[in-house]
Amino acid sequence: MLKEKIKKIEEISVSEIKKAANERALFDIKVKYLGRKGKLTEILKSLKNLNENERKTIGPLANQARQKLESEIAKRQKELSEKIDWEREKIDITLPGKKTEIGSLHPITLVYREIEKIFASMSFEIVEGPELETEWYNFSALNFPPDHPARDMQDTFWIRSEKEKFVLRTHTSPVQVRYMEKHKPPFRIIVPGRVFRNEATDAAHEHTLHQFEALVVGDDVNVGHFKYIASQFFSVFFGKKVEIRLRPSFFPFTEPSFEFDISCTVCSGKGCPSCKNSGWLEIGGAGMVNQNVFASAGYPENRYQGFAWGFGIERLAMMKYKIDDIRWFESGDLRFIRQL
Ligand code: FA5
Repeated sequence: MLKEKIKKIEEISVSEIKKAANERALFDIKVKYLGRKGKLTEILKSLKNLNENERKTIGPLANQARQKLESEIAKRQKELSEKIDWEREKIDITLPGKKTEIGSLHPITLVYREIEKIFASMSFEIVEGPELETEWYNFSALNFPPDHPARDMQDTFWIRSEKEKFVLRTHTSPVQVRYMEKHKPPFRIIVPGRVFRNEATDAAHEHTLHQFEALVVGDDVNVGHFKYIASQFFSVFFGKKVEIRLRPSFFPFTEPSFEFDISCTVCSGKGCPSCKNSGWLEIGGAGMVNQNVFASAGYPENRYQGFAWGFGIERLAMMKYKIDDIRWFESGDLRFIRQL
């Protein structure tokens, strides 16, 4: 009885295996006969209930059947994996192709690249620094007195921490001291980067913005060098001759300090609505590096001279691309970016 049953299972299962249309169907057949509760497995399990004589004849038969099934399954498995499913592979060449969306660069990235290109052509090194900065580098090393209003909670994002006081850097100037600690003059660097201000936003002010700093230090660097390099840079950037004008100002880390303007890029200084008829556009801050900043970096007193400047990249992008509201930059609105 059992002998016939085994023969029958073998016959039926082998024919099912040969017909299996795909790997999934083959797997189901394997489970049906050889799985934990499979038909052949049940017989193999029941061998222990037979007497010794029966076991001697039935045992080898059942095992041969299992081996046969296993080898048939392996054979079919190989056939199926080598078979090409032409239905699935078929290509309809009349269908339209899949479109890849072409992105466009953010205006800040475009201006970054332009700035870096121009300064690299004047042999400036491009340097970066951390956005999360210590109070020392952001303020104290730059000669900000302890009670300076810029250190206020209203102007700066302070980060709670046990040991040192951290801030989201409010400007790119902290990289000046970080760089000078590791390098000896002469050198010329620019530092582009993201900065943060605890600020109510409007068309001209953002809490997250980009600045770029320039720092040139040597034995006899003077304001004339600054004016020349600045006018070279802006002339190339705007594609027309640009004049520089300095006005007295104050920054703790420069002495003397200036605000600097460029001749209006729309009317070339004649006067128009863009420059409110003054002929000049306000650009950023600059000055000769304060000797106290050199001291923070460990340089000897009165040994070197240098100039530094810093201004907003958004402001530059707004002038170049005629953008009327700074809040567009961080808006994430793709319609804005796609125009450029
Ligand atoms: C500074 O940040 C100085 N570190 C610049 C500097 C560097 C002076 C080296 C001297 C030597 P100020 O806070 O003025 O300075 O900012 C510089 C420029 O950043 C501004 O002229 C403006 O273009 C831009 N800026 C500052 N705050 C904002 C803001 N909230 N939104 C948009 N642009 C801003």
